[in-house]
Order: sequence, then C-alpha cells, then structure tokens
Amino acid sequence: MVRDFVQREIIPQAKSLEENHEFPREILEKLADLGILGMTVPPEYKGMKTDSISLVLALEELSRVLPSVAVIVSVHCSLFCYSILKFGTREQKEKYLPKAAEGKILGAFSLTEPGAGSDATSLRTNAVKNGNMYILNGTKNWVTTGSEAGALVLFAMTEIKPGIKKLSAFIVEKHFPGLKISKIEEKMGLHSSLTAEISLENCEVPAENLLGEEGKGASIAFHCLDCSRIGIAAQSVGLSQQAMEEAVKYAKQREAFGKKIAEFQSLQFMIADIATQLDAARLLTYKAADLCDKGKSFTKEAAMAKLFASEAANRIAYQALQIHGGYGYSKEFLIERLYRDARVFTIYEGTSEIQRLVISRFLLKK
Ligand code: CAA
Repeated sequence: MVRDFVQREIIPQAKSLEENHEFPREILEKLADLGILGMTVPPEYKGMKTDSISLVLALEELSRVLPSVAVIVSVHCSLFCYSILKFGTREQKEKYLPKAAEGKILGAFSLTEPGAGSDATSLRTNAVKNGNMYILNGTKNWVTTGSEAGALVLFAMTEIKPGIKKLSAFIVEKHFPGLKISKIEEKMGLHSSLTAEISLENCEVPAENLLGEEGKGASIAFHCLDCSRIGIAAQSVGLSQQAMEEAVKYAKQREAFGKKIAEFQSLQFMIADIATQLDAARLLTYKAADLCDKGKSFTKEAAMAKLFASEAANRIAYQALQIHGGYGYSKEFLIERLYRDARVFTIYEGTSEIQRLVISRFLLKK
C-alpha cells in the first residue's frame, strides 16, 4: 500500500518539495488517511497499531525517494506517539493520541540543546514547579518537525530533591505561552523536513502535562530512542535500496569504451558490494524490530541496526553516485539528493559513536 502511495503521490512532487524546502503537509494528511500516522497507536485511541516490522516496511518505502517524509513519520510514530502510549496517563493518551493518529496534530520530540547532543543528560533547560504549572526556560535545537508540530515531548531538568536535578519529560503544546520557534535550520539535505530551534521563555506547562515520573526523563528518552533507532535504520535501508536501483539502471544504460558500463567487472563488484551491505543492513533492522515485537530486550540490536544501516547507506550512496560518474554530481539525478540526505543518518538519534558506546556497554556490563 505504501509503495503504491509513493509511486502515485510522492514521486511526482518529491524533487520540487525538496528544492523548495517545502513541508509535505498534504502528503502527511494523506498518510494519516491511510492510517500510517497511527501505526504505534492502538484502535481505542483511533490508531491502527501494527507490529514494528510493518512500521519498518512503511518507513523503508517512504524513504526511497523522500527520506524527509520518512523521518517526520518516524519521529511522530516512534518518539511522540509511542512515548505518550508507554508513559502517559489515561487522560494524556485520550487527549493527544487520537489527534496524532488521525493527523490532526503532528508530534515532535525535543531532547537536544545547543550544548547537549550526545551528552543528553547534561541539559540546561530547566523546569521549576510553581503551583499547578511548570515554568520552563532554555533553548532546544535540532527539533525535527518542531515548527510544524501541534505538540512536542520535551525534556528539561527538574529539581527532584534540593540540589539534585534530573531530566523530566513534558508534553508541550505549540501554543503554550512562552514557546517560540526561534530558527529553522538550513541543512545539507532533508530539505522538506523542517528542523527548528525552540526558545522557552517562562513557558507555562500545566503540571498535568508532566510525562511519566518527575526525574525519570532519561529512561523515557533512551527507551523511546531505542525504538526510533530502528526507524532510522529502516530509513537508511529504504534510501540504500533506491540508490542501488538507480545505480543498476544507470549502469545498464550508459555506454563507455563501446559497451554498457554494467559489463565492466569493476562496476559489477561495486554493485555486488552494495547489494551485500544492503541485505546485511536490512536483516539487522528486521532482527531488532522482531525482538521489539516479541517483547525482548532490543537496546543493543537497535543500536547495531542503526550503526550498520546508517554507515552502509553512506557507503552505498557514495558508490552509487560514483557509478553515475559526472551525472551523479548533477541535481538532475536522484542520486545527488540521496547522497546528501544519507549524511545525517549517522548523526541524528545518536551518532555512530554513541551507538558503539551503547553496544559495547551492553556487552562489557554482562
Ligand atoms: N532504556 C531505558 N532506560 C535507559 C536506557 C535504555 N536503553 N539507557 C539508559 N537508561 C536509563 C538509565 O538506567 C539511567 O536511569 P536512572 O537515571 O533512573 O538511573 C538513565 O537512563 C541515564 O542512563 P546513563 O547513566 O547510562 O546515561 P549516560 O549519561 O551515561 O548516557 C548515552 C548514555 C547512551 C550516551 C545517552 O546519553 C545517549 O544515548 N545519548 C545520545 C542521545 C541521542 O540519541 N540524541 C538524539 C536526539 S533525538 C533526535 O535526533 C530526534 C530527531 O529529531 C531526529
């Protein structure tokens, strides 16, 4: 279903959306009608909860020609909706999940700050309880969909005991007083996915919007990131699949030295390497999703899938572009954009170095 949708609705406008840095709102509305925005939300909250493997397959397909849409959907489903489903109160679920599943609001997830990316427990944004409100002050950045989202799951430091500050999670609505979109980042790729900086100046958040227990925000953030890293692995696999197909198509058309370039062994070996890395990335991704579906521990496997698939996507995009020669460097060919879009995969939702840290800690602890 998603593959057909991509053919019909996304391919015809992907290039112009990216060139114009245009947020794909209409596409997202149609994806909501198909139930895709509610893939992590159960039917009682108007979603069509599927297993993780299905979400992976949907993200793969979306990522083939418009990885921007894939990351918007992944953040919405695996970070925003999932965190509320897993840690929210009944009232929070009833208030936010039906709207999110039906696409009436898009969700974002705001952890990173200018001075705290990988070191996510060193946030400076703070939340001080004042009666039935928390007052938030600070700056958040690299917020995927930040400017377009109706609500965000946002992390700030609260003082849980005198002198001891810990991360807490809040559901913050876009119109809460004191929240301002201060900047839209100008990025190398993923131009249709708008990435915002958010300023919080005495932002008033009702105490009932605390998500989970006060001071337990780090566990909430890292648990949800485990799930969403599978989504970024899927995004990497989808882009790699398309890059391989673009390279094969080009190699079978282009002639040099009197024959198709696909007939040269140097190219054949490159394509064989691409296909092998792609398969390995896909299998690691499906394995992590399968463990998640079975309710088993999958922190290490999600980190492995994200690490391998994102690094492989960059190598694959590099080789696929190389096969295109000079044309690969031209904006006329899709591979130029895929090459730029792939670059962030090894960075967001935990850099490759953080994934290695998670994997090795897991093994050494045991
Ligand atoms: N699941 C649940 N809880 C976990 C966990 C997991 N996988 N990993 C750690 N925790 C818990 C710990 O038990 C601990 O809980 P308590 O405070 O209750 O004891 C707490 O979280 C802190 O854990 P650590 O002491 O291990 O934390 P640390 O400071 O050593 O950091 C880290 C660990 C792995 C480096 C972590 O900081 C990390 O993953 N950093 C990367 C952050 C990241 O991925 N950022 C991406 C931003 S979001 C984004 O990109 C979204 C987008 O818009 C695209």
